[in-house]
Amino acid sequence: MIYVTPREAQVYLKDDQVVVLPTETVYGLAANGCSDAAIAQIYAIKNRPAFNPLIMHYFDVARVQEHVVWNALAESLAQAFWPGPLTLVLPRCPKSPLSLLACAGLETVAVRVPAHFIMREILEALPFPLAAPSANPSEQLSPTRASHVMEAFRMRDVQPAYMVDGGACVVGLESTVVDVTGERPVLLRPGVLTVDQMRPVVGDFAPYDAAGPIKSPGQTLRHYAPRKPLRLNVTDPLPGEGYLAFGPTIAHAFVYQLSASGDLIEAAANLFASLHEMDQDSRFQRIAVGPIPMQGLGIAINDRLGRAATHEFSLAGPDRV
Ligand code: TXA
Ligand code: MG
Repeated sequence: MIYVTPREAQVYLKDDQVVVLPTETVYGLAANGCSDAAIAQIYAIKNRPAFNPLIMHYFDVARVQEHVVWNALAESLAQAFWPGPLTLVLPRCPKSPLSLLACAGLETVAVRVPAHFIMREILEALPFPLAAPSANPSEQLSPTRASHVMEAFRMRDVQPAYMVDGGACVVGLESTVVDVTGERPVLLRPGVLTVDQMRPVVGDFAPYDAAGPIKSPGQTLRHYAPRKPLRLNVTDPLPGEGYLAFGPTIAHAFVYQLSASGDLIEAAANLFASLHEMDQDSRFQRIAVGPIPMQGLGIAINDRLGRAATHEFSLAGPDRV
């Protein structure tokens, strides 16, 4: 990992590369939020066991509004607390160019306008938002100094290549996540900004309804389920099935490729977009997926496919990534 300037970081980010950037909360592993290929590298570097959806970071509210369905609750909270350690979950605009992989196929997206001056300088100059989870390998503590990031990745095979050192993060705790898709706000992840601080601005919060529609993928991962039934680990697709292949494959009528060369990063990048396209393809009514090795990013790919295949919600572990 090498240290780069904010201006160099902009160049690498435009080239779909991952750069570690400081925010006021924690350091983030940042990449182009509209590029599946860039986002797949974030998941590979973090070694996340599942594709937990990522927060999109924007320069200002006007840019956020281009990608989400904005509402009065969001407006009040944004006016009061942005830029700052608050993340809002809102419906994604149907036509938004955001990476489906970063949103884990959900119809909502988590957005925030961070306060750190380096992050803001970089965001202002880029024509896209930055997806950025905390810059730690999965299961490890979030980093609040550049040295934490260096230390956490020192012994690992897959590392981010670049980092901007912004000193110590002043907040030091991940942002508060609030769902504003309903009539009342719902706290999805507690953070330094508390409900007591937000209540005067938006009124009472609704309790998190564990039995209702799943809203917090950090605690309970909702899968992206295509409408069409899905079969996994299929080497010989049946007539009438669309085939989602990984690596070289036998001739078949309706083949989609995750990665012809068997590259897991490329496959992760193509996963959600391929499933969406196959769902829309009227030539077949069922989807068969080829075997994908259970190693590296293959674990996350198989995890998501497993959830998509069962048509049931599964429980994930607590949000430690
Ligand atoms: O302070 C922060 O928020 C840091 C810095 C880098 O900005 N980022 C961060 O990202 O903590 P991450 O990926 O570690 O956490 C994202 C959280 C997870 O709990 C995830 O489940 C939730 O946001 N989230 C993301 N998209 C969501 C969505 N569409 N609906 C509900 N929750 C979502
Ligand atoms: Mg995290």
